[in-house]
Amino acid sequence: MRTLLAMIIGGMLLASPLPALAADEAPEDPSALPDGDGRDETFYSCTACHSTALIRRSGFTRQQWDDLMDWMVEKQNMNPLEADERKLIVDYLARAFPPRRTRPPAFNNPFATN
Ligand code: HEC
Repeated sequence: MRTLLAMIIGGMLLASPLPALAADEAPEDPSALPDGDGRDETFYSCTACHSTALIRRSGFTRQQWDDLMDWMVEKQNMNPLEADERKLIVDYLARAFPPRRTRPPAFNNPFATN
């Protein structure tokens, strides 16, 4: 009886999806991001605090990426980017990581500042 119970519980544990965290811990270089103008600048400005995983799993419009820069500065203490560099990086992000699926109509931009 004990064994049967252990098997059932064990099976439930195995069946539950485990978050794939380990893959994101490896040291990265700019090739973790898709090729394109501004890739290296993006990599070096954006991976001081987190890996590229947060960026790669995201898909935003240019406006949303631009808003995200403000959010990163205001809420996450990122050093503000120089205007030229910000344009280069936001252009790159908008090209490399566009929105992937249509949002529900009620979607509110969580990065909007007001
Ligand atoms: C000063 C540190 C810092 C820098 C530099 C930084 N970030 Fe972040 N970023 C954070 C923190 C902190 C979070 C929040 C992580 C969390 O939600 O736990 C975050 C979250 C994100 C997210 C996920 C947002 C979401 O919740 O969906 C994206 C995308 C992102 N950052 C992109 C960037 C990009 C692009 C750059 C470079 C322009 C950048 N980050 C630079 C600190 C930073």
